[in-house]
Amino acid sequence: MNRNVRITVHPSFDVLAATTAARLITRLLDVQSERGEATLVLTGGSVGIATLREVAKSPAHLAVDWSKVNFWFGDDRFVATGSPDRNYGQAAEALLEHVPVDPARVHIMAASDTVAGLDEAAAQYAQELAAAALLEWENDDASPAQAPAVPRFDVLLLGMGPDAHIASLFPEMAGIRTTGASVVAVRNSPKPPPERVSLTLETINSAQEIWIVAAGADKAAAVGLGLAGASPVQVPASGARGINKTMWLLDEAAAAKVPEALMRREH
Ligand code: 6PG
Repeated sequence: MNRNVRITVHPSFDVLAATTAARLITRLLDVQSERGEATLVLTGGSVGIATLREVAKSPAHLAVDWSKVNFWFGDDRFVATGSPDRNYGQAAEALLEHVPVDPARVHIMAASDTVAGLDEAAAQYAQELAAAALLEWENDDASPAQAPAVPRFDVLLLGMGPDAHIASLFPEMAGIRTTGASVVAVRNSPKPPPERVSLTLETINSAQEIWIVAAGADKAAAVGLGLAGASPVQVPASGARGINKTMWLLDEAAAAKVPEALMRREH
């Protein structure tokens, strides 16, 4: 297994969410002290949203300069503005409404009532990513010859479904097979609602660090397969690899099928 993959197991869902929040605050502080700003990609799902709630609860979050955090989304459900299904709405309620973010740095995927259709929503997000990447590229002396399609992501959070889907990339479906695009329009999602917008696996894997967060016994088989190196088309989570680091942050139940020798425990 790639040496930069780390698996850490926590005693419960609550400890997992609180610890992930503490790690996230620390990482944002470290990145901001190095580069002035930090870029975080958010996920929907139970642990991802609970983590954001824990960030807001922690007094340490006051040390982060939230006005210099760029927020993106790994995926969102293509439903109307204000729908409780929107990952953006859940993230806003959990964290973004409670910290002094710069609204211009919060990059949300279009809701179904704000664009003509799903393809347009995906294309719009791809353009927004490309525009941010271009700006970064113009301001950075050490950048490559050509502007990349997406900006630098310091931490990308991913929840995972019992079928091992990540973001809205589901096993055997078109999204997980998509290459050469930064964003994909997802139809017929097996997890409702059926229409979604998602970053592609290539975009996800451009992140410096990927943190996969999963809790509960129904995730154990997917975690086992994800770590056993199964094909990403069948087991999307197994394809997630950050440039510098990939962390699997689990609770005991989700880690039930991980070989003991691979685990690090947080008591
Ligand atoms: C979504 C998510 C999705 C989610 C997983 C895990 O929009 O549905 O981004 O990828 O993270 O399905 O969700 P749970 O933790 O709620 O099972």
